[in-house]
Amino acid sequence: MDTLSMSNCKLSIQGINKQYKNNKAIALDNVSVDVMEGEFLSILGPSGCGKTTLLRIIAGLLQPDSGKLLLDGKDITDAPPAKRSLGIVFQNYALFENMTVLENVTYAAYLKAKREKSATKEEITARAMELLRELGIADYAKKYPAALSGGQMQRVAIARTLILNPDIMLFDEPASALDVATRLQLRTVIKDIQAKFGTTMIYITHDQEEAFAMSDRIMVMETAKISQIGTPSEIVSAPANDYVKSFVVDNLQTKIDSLNRALGKSV
Ligand SMILES: Nc1ncnc2c1ncn2[C@@H]1O[C@H](COP(=O)(O)OP(=O)(O)OP(=O)(O)O)[C@@H](O)[C@H]1O
Ligand SMILES: [Mg+2]
Repeated sequence: MDTLSMSNCKLSIQGINKQYKNNKAIALDNVSVDVMEGEFLSILGPSGCGKTTLLRIIAGLLQPDSGKLLLDGKDITDAPPAKRSLGIVFQNYALFENMTVLENVTYAAYLKAKREKSATKEEITARAMELLRELGIADYAKKYPAALSGGQMQRVAIARTLILNPDIMLFDEPASALDVATRLQLRTVIKDIQAKFGTTMIYITHDQEEAFAMSDRIMVMETAKISQIGTPSEIVSAPANDYVKSFVVDNLQTKIDSLNRALGKSV
């Protein structure tokens, strides 16, 4: 935590409020957090608490009613998604079904390179193949998404984001549709990327254990609001209120207790 607290603020989220037009409930109520350069921040909260709403606002897919976003100190609150240098990986992968794995990964990168005259198609294809190799799915380059498992599709979605060299990668419950073993593999893939590229990551989950295993800091949300932001050990040792204690700490304890019971029986 010391290195993080001394490093730069990458994304400053300041006083974000959001209410959907057709909905009486407030989706986000004065949400503020500074995400540090290279940090892995999880957003942990139950269904409907506003996690996806916040991610969509960060990505520029949705406008807040009020509040500001600063990326490297620059106000990006009104910037279109393409101008934000953020990559987003969704739960449902959102791959192009009519394109091969390789085409999925190169498509946006090629358009960007053409616009910016920054790389040739060959260079982008080579970079895509390198990423597919690093993510362990090079053998699937010529296949279509329908032929892939959920874990493989998620790796394609990650490669497609990574090739654009985003400043921040945003993940919206990328593991929630996967079986336990594949989820664990995906964790390693994501943490390896973070270690290799130093990418700042914001990771949505409703899984306490996942948040604790992966994060530098966890932002715990209750309906529309932040309950606590802290390192895993800060949250366990000093939950901010009864909600954090029951939703996070007690839930984790219950899982550990079941595991211990199971181990006790099998010994
Ligand atoms: N397009 C929309 N129109 C109206 N209300 C919406 C819309 N999208 C979300 N909401 C409401 O805003 C609140 C926050 O929703 P959001 O999708 O951000 O929650 P979430 O934490 O991502 O939940 P989940 O874990 O189920 O994905 C909820 O009350 C939801 O019903
Ligand atoms: Mg959501």
